[in-house]
Amino acid sequence: MSLKPYKRSRVAIVGMGAVGTTTGYTLLLRQRMSELVFIDINPKKAKGEMLDMNHGLPFLGGVKVWAGDYEDCRDADIIIVTAGASQKPGETRIDLLKRNAEIFEGIIDNIVKVNTHGILVIATNPVDILSYISWKRSGWPSSRVIGSGTLLDSARFRYLIGKQKGIDPRSIHAHIIGEHGDSELPVWSTANVAGTPLDLDENTKNEIFESTKNAAYEIIDAKGATSYAIGLALDRIVAAILGDEGSVLNVSTLLEDYNGVSDVYLGVPSIVDHNGVREILDLPLNDEERTRLLQSADKLKEQISKLQL
Ligand code: 2OP
Repeated sequence: MSLKPYKRSRVAIVGMGAVGTTTGYTLLLRQRMSELVFIDINPKKAKGEMLDMNHGLPFLGGVKVWAGDYEDCRDADIIIVTAGASQKPGETRIDLLKRNAEIFEGIIDNIVKVNTHGILVIATNPVDILSYISWKRSGWPSSRVIGSGTLLDSARFRYLIGKQKGIDPRSIHAHIIGEHGDSELPVWSTANVAGTPLDLDENTKNEIFESTKNAAYEIIDAKGATSYAIGLALDRIVAAILGDEGSVLNVSTLLEDYNGVSDVYLGVPSIVDHNGVREILDLPLNDEERTRLLQSADKLKEQISKLQL
């Protein structure tokens, strides 16, 4: 029997708030990489999370975890950015734009100063606009700058449809696309289970979509932040990249001439592998869906045009 050859892989997380910490813990439990580094503006917080997780290693093994600084991004295969302000109850994701855009340029500069080959995975909100800013600022190909996009919204959507139908959500094929936020849209026209169209009445469909769209508001109102499902969504992206999977994930990516949309990052079904976003799938949309996607793009482009990039 020959041993599997050892392959070093490093994931760095910038921002150890609720999302960064939960993502780190999820990656650790799933043993996704051999090295995991935590970076935070408050090094004491990163150290505390690191110690707490290291003390679990006797139950897990396998991963080297430490608290570091931007220099540790040098050898990272993936840098996940979750740093920045998060929504308070009642705030929209777009309300965070000014605050987070200001800190983001510095974060991206610090990363690209030491790393030229990795993949940036952006999770901070408003995620589509911050992914666009990160792409511009980094000078990296858009394939290597990925936003978490509507991967989480699609998971919420599939969960709610699955619950309604009594079917495992993993067997539901249904997509939320557009902004990760209030202008996102459901693609009901292609939603299916094993190729079988979903027979749901309009009222039920509306309820499912509204619950999907407003899920974060409900959770933030109840417990202050969302963390577990986004942690799993980011873990899913890491798995697709490190495993060179070619998985179809609704991440936020640069659209060029996509259903009439260009020069903006939005969540759409994309093939993700070791090189990042390899290809964007040409999801067939009906007229209403196409109009709503354009509206979502216009909304974000208007916000981007107000920024000095
Ligand atoms: C979420 O949807 C707040 O964007 C975050 O959970």
